Amino acid sequence: MSTQEFARRRKHLMQGMGDGTIAILPTAPTQFRNRDSEYHYRPDSDFYYLTGFSEPEAVIVLKPGREHGEYILFCRERDAKSEIWVGSRAGQEGAVEQYGADDSFPIDDMDDILPGLLEGVDRVFYTMGDHSDFDKRVIDWVNHLHKQSRSGVHTPGEFIALDHLLHDLRLIKSSFELKAMRKAASISAKAHCRAMRICKPGMHEYQIEAELIHSFMHDGARFPAYSSIVGGGANACVLHYVDNKDKLKNGDLLLIDAGAEYDYYAADISRTFPINGKFSRAQRELYQVVLDAQLAAIEQVKPGNHWNDPHETAVRVITEGLIRLGILTGKLETLIEKEKYKTFYMHRTGHWLGMDVHDVGDYKIDDEWRQLEAGMVLTVEPGLYIPANSQDVDEKWWDIGIRIEDDVLVTKTGHEVLSAGVPKDIDGIEYMMSVAHG
Ligand code: GLY
Ligand code: MN
Ligand code: MN
Repeated sequence: MSTQEFARRRKHLMQGMGDGTIAILPTAPTQFRNRDSEYHYRPDSDFYYLTGFSEPEAVIVLKPGREHGEYILFCRERDAKSEIWVGSRAGQEGAVEQYGADDSFPIDDMDDILPGLLEGVDRVFYTMGDHSDFDKRVIDWVNHLHKQSRSGVHTPGEFIALDHLLHDLRLIKSSFELKAMRKAASISAKAHCRAMRICKPGMHEYQIEAELIHSFMHDGARFPAYSSIVGGGANACVLHYVDNKDKLKNGDLLLIDAGAEYDYYAADISRTFPINGKFSRAQRELYQVVLDAQLAAIEQVKPGNHWNDPHETAVRVITEGLIRLGILTGKLETLIEKEKYKTFYMHRTGHWLGMDVHDVGDYKIDDEWRQLEAGMVLTVEPGLYIPANSQDVDEKWWDIGIRIEDDVLVTKTGHEVLSAGVPKDIDGIEYMMSVAHG
């Protein structure tokens, strides 16, 4: 992504902040997997959204109208010894030259410099509660200034969470962001196709996961956007099953929920297919209910409709289907009103998607469901889960778990399914699997 794109985002944010303000935003801390072994570092999404800067130990400060520059980046100093071990750092020079900062200071000097930047400011945009150590430092800086107020120093009077402004920006994706999201979705769709072609009874769930990861990385996505769910048979009824340890059985379904992260943007795709390549009659009937619900819900994705429209539609189609198959009995409206479908469909139909898999952005405004607007991206992912021993449910439906999930962009006139590159209709899935099985 270009430096102009990041500059544009900072400008928009500062326009929203107004005069007499400052924003302070630290990036994510390094996380350890065990003892001194680190997870691959990933910057905080808000921080990266505004900077494109992926080193740890960095803080962005934005001060609209500051004479010596509005964008200040605190980051690590260059250090020849440490760079031999873990690679190069931008340093203060790089922060200015490569990342477009107006000013950059060593992160270790922040306690000396930050109070000065807070002088003359009325409002501080800072989100409390994410990093408690850093919260304390911000409060200390402000208190330090308050102590000098008798000598005429103008001190900030108000703290405002940065989230709302920033997350509203992140909710509407730019063309740069959509390019990355399209790529994340197409890489992920291709990986799901590979999993369908390779899957056969006797393989282990983790072997299918290995195929997904192979495909992601081969196509340029170094990491999955979240832990892949690969659950055969009964495991498909565990919503966040990530053990991926069991053997795949002939006659069972396999549910895969996996998406790649590309250039910091996530895809989130679920597909469910028969391990032996052919849906049984019961699997086919239940699958078709979920697919009909998903297709109907996707039709609701268009500007002007509200956030909950796809969910309400999915719930209706699923409840109708459950009545038709004899899994629920009663009147449609009553069953919906009493939320009887929740025994088998207990999650919501989607979430915002972007840099974070469960992306930022409010779902309600003033207690009303938010209207969909062009540039928003959401998932549409209804499912049905019928574990063994489900009360009053015929055994033929037991241990069937199905979820179908696509990534959908709201366009000016309707929607675009970003993850359309992997089949989801029964014939399409069986065809793809038959080609592979020979
Ligand atoms: N993969 C998590 C979700 O579908 O929300
Ligand atoms: Mn998912
Ligand atoms: Mn999802």
